[in-house]
Amino acid sequence: MTNDRYWRERRGMLRLESLNDFQWRRLIERLDKAVAEAARAYLRHLHARRVSIRSDDWDLELDELRLAREPDYDEPGLPLVYALKYMPRRVMSILGSLLAVDIDRYPSSVLDIGSGPGATALALDLINAPRHISLLGIEPSREMIAFADSSRFTWRVTARYQEGSLVDGTLGRLPLDPFDLLVFSASFPYHFDEWGALLGALGSYAENAGKMILVVEPEAKADILDSFGRRLRARGWPARTFCCHDLPEIIKRDDLALKHMQEVWKRIGSPGSTPPRTWWNPPDDKFLIANPEPSWPLLGEARMATVSGTESRPSLPEKAHGQP
Ligand SMILES: C[S@@+](CC[C@H](N)C(=O)[O-])C[C@H]1O[C@@H](n2cnc3c(N)ncnc32)[C@H](O)[C@@H]1O
Repeated sequence: MTNDRYWRERRGMLRLESLNDFQWRRLIERLDKAVAEAARAYLRHLHARRVSIRSDDWDLELDELRLAREPDYDEPGLPLVYALKYMPRRVMSILGSLLAVDIDRYPSSVLDIGSGPGATALALDLINAPRHISLLGIEPSREMIAFADSSRFTWRVTARYQEGSLVDGTLGRLPLDPFDLLVFSASFPYHFDEWGALLGALGSYAENAGKMILVVEPEAKADILDSFGRRLRARGWPARTFCCHDLPEIIKRDDLALKHMQEVWKRIGSPGSTPPRTWWNPPDDKFLIANPEPSWPLLGEARMATVSGTESRPSLPEKAHGQP
């Protein structure tokens, strides 16, 4: 048994297929507390800057998303309502899609592009992987970064966030080699079409056998996800796409109240029509995983140089999650 598999089986790493009711409650409680604590810390930050609480306005601004338009994520306060409304659902989506890839090794270094309030860091923390994970978030909105910097309630993940964008050449300037996993969670702007710069920064599969890419987008941006998938495949990346309906049912349970988040939500005037929840449909989420069998090192192994064709790759079980 590999070290990683030992850890997964003995040390409580999250396994969706055998999650019992007690573990489900603990997971949701951790999620609830982490988002609520970040929201309270960000609220203190708003008070210190004398930003008045206009939660209904922020909720209205976020409605742009439903009209396939970008809200102003840089409006002070908006990330608070975004996090209460969307962060649990985004966390469950990232967590569910990553665990749908049945691998027995884990990333140690993650680049989260369009990191927003820090959903990826929280999802990775809840997965309880046997490695410590470092995460760098790239995000154009300073206000989102301020919220994410308030979201330091993770044990297994150390996150830092810096300003940058998909469309300003940030990825081209960053050395991407050190990252095991690249995450794009609902971060493509509507009508994104700067593929040349993005694909150029990512490089070909031959140069990236140790890297996995996870893309999550709601149905309304499925064309962007599909287009990204086609372009990656054309550059040799093996890629799978699937939908939230392919995830284990447990991910989509919505039976436990997010009590701590609801307390914050009430405190700021109960914006929107529903209290914070873990899951709802529609919209469906679609997932793209490029390189679902990355040659990430096992526990105790050093990272291997990414040289085309020289890495030993694990033999992994076939999954049936809606492969194209
Ligand atoms: C819907 S939120 C998703 C946030 C986070 N990834 C999540 O899963 O909750 C979209 C995020 O993408 C960011 N964003 C918008 N345009 C971007 C761009 N050109 N490059 C990178 N991020 C962008 C926004 O500022 C916002 O934080």
